[in-house]
Amino acid sequence: MDTITTSKKEHKQLDPMILRDDFPILNRKINGKDLIYLDNAATTQKPWSVIESLRRYYEYQNANVHRGLHTLAEEATSAFENTREKVAQFIGGVKTEEIIYTRGTTEAINLVAYSWGRKNIKEGDRIVLTEMEHHANLVPWIVLAKETGAELRYIPIDVDGMLQMDNLDQIIAPDTKLVSVTHMSNVLGTINPVKELAERAHAQGALMLVDGAQSVPHLQVNVKDIDADFYAFSAHKMLGPTGVGILYGKEEILENMEPFNYGGEMISEVRFDHADWNSLPWKFEAGTPNIADAVAFAPALDYLNDLGMEAVREHEKEITAYALRRLSELKYLRVFGPTDVKHRGGAVSFIDREIHPHDLATFLDSRGIAVRAGHHCAQPLAKRLGVVSTARASFYIYNTMEEVDKLVEALKEARRYFCNE
Ligand SMILES: Cc1ncc(COP(=O)(O)O)c(C=O)c1O
Repeated sequence: MDTITTSKKEHKQLDPMILRDDFPILNRKINGKDLIYLDNAATTQKPWSVIESLRRYYEYQNANVHRGLHTLAEEATSAFENTREKVAQFIGGVKTEEIIYTRGTTEAINLVAYSWGRKNIKEGDRIVLTEMEHHANLVPWIVLAKETGAELRYIPIDVDGMLQMDNLDQIIAPDTKLVSVTHMSNVLGTINPVKELAERAHAQGALMLVDGAQSVPHLQVNVKDIDADFYAFSAHKMLGPTGVGILYGKEEILENMEPFNYGGEMISEVRFDHADWNSLPWKFEAGTPNIADAVAFAPALDYLNDLGMEAVREHEKEITAYALRRLSELKYLRVFGPTDVKHRGGAVSFIDREIHPHDLATFLDSRGIAVRAGHHCAQPLAKRLGVVSTARASFYIYNTMEEVDKLVEALKEARRYFCNE
C-alpha cells in the first residue's frame, strides 16, 4: 500500500513517459485501443499518491474535523489543515486565513458573488468580465446584475482570441466595482494579462477576481504578485480529487464579508437569538467539509511541486506548439486561440469544417482518444466565434508528442470515414 511511485523525483526535466507509470488509468484500453486522454481541461487524471491517500484516509484516519478531542479527530484535522498550508504556499505564500475550501471554482465564485457582491454591488455599478468567460464566471454575475440593477461590460477578444486592451479605460471606468477575468481560457487557451487588469481595476477602486481553474494547474501562480483580491481554482484539474476548490481572498476583504452558508463550524458563539461568526477561514466553511478529498489534494500539490511548475509549463508549451503545428497541416480544420504558445496554455479547440464536433469526438473515442466536444461551458464565446460547438484537445503532464501524432492520424481517418476522402 505504501508503494507510491516516485519515479518523477529522479528527473529534473519532465518526462511524460516516466510520469505515466504514476497514473494507473492511463493503462486502460478504450474500445480496444490504448487510452489517449486529451480532456485535461475538464479534469485531470490522478496519480497513485492521490488515490492511495484517499484510501489511507478512510482506512486509518477518518473522523470529523475541528470537533473532537480524540486522536482520529486530531489527525484528520491536522491533515485537513496541512493541505490548506500547502495550498497557501503553492499560490505564492499567502496566509492560511486567506484560503477557503469550497467545492470547486464554481462555488468559490458564487461565494464571492453572494457574500461580497450582494453587499457591495448596487444599481448603476459596473461589473467587468471578458468575452471568453466560463459560465462559472458569468452566470453568478448575470444573476447579481439582474438582482441589483448593475451593468455588465465585456472586454472583447480579437481575431487571435486575445483580449483587446486598447479601449480598456472606457470599459474599466470609475463606476466599476469588480473586474472578474479568467487567467487562462478553457476554450482558446489564452493567458490573460491579469496583473495589468488588476492594476487597472484598482486604479478605479474596483476589486479583481481571477478565475484560475485553468491556470493554477499549468502555470506558476503568485496571487500576491498579480495583486488579485480573489482567486479561485479547483483541485480536480490539477491531479487532485473532485469536490475540492479553493477561494483565495485578501484577509481584510474576507473579514468584511458576510458568511456564505450558515450552520455548524462557521460560528464562534450561538444563543437562541444571536450568532457570532468564527474567525477566518472557517467563517466561510459551514458544515462538515469534504475532508477526505481535501486531505488527498496534498499529494497532488506535492507531485506538482516535485516536478516544478516551470517544468510543467515548459512541457505544456512544447506539446501545445507541436499540436498547433500538426493540426495546422490539416487544412480542413479551423483552430482557435493564439498561435504563439507564449500567450496560451494547452487547451486547443478546433472544428473540422465538414464534420460535426460531436461526430468527431465519437469517432476519436472509437480510436481510444478522449477529447471534448461542445460549447465547453462558454456559450457566449462560442457565439462570438461563430460556432455552436468545437472539439477540444487539452494536454497535461503525461501527454506525449506521439499522442498528438495519433490524434492527427485519427482526424485524417475521420475525414476518410465521414467525407470519403
Ligand atoms: C475557466 C474555468 N472556470 C471555471 C470552471 C469551473 O470549474 P469547476 O467545475 O471545477 O467548478 C472551469 C471548468 O472547466 C473552467 O475551465
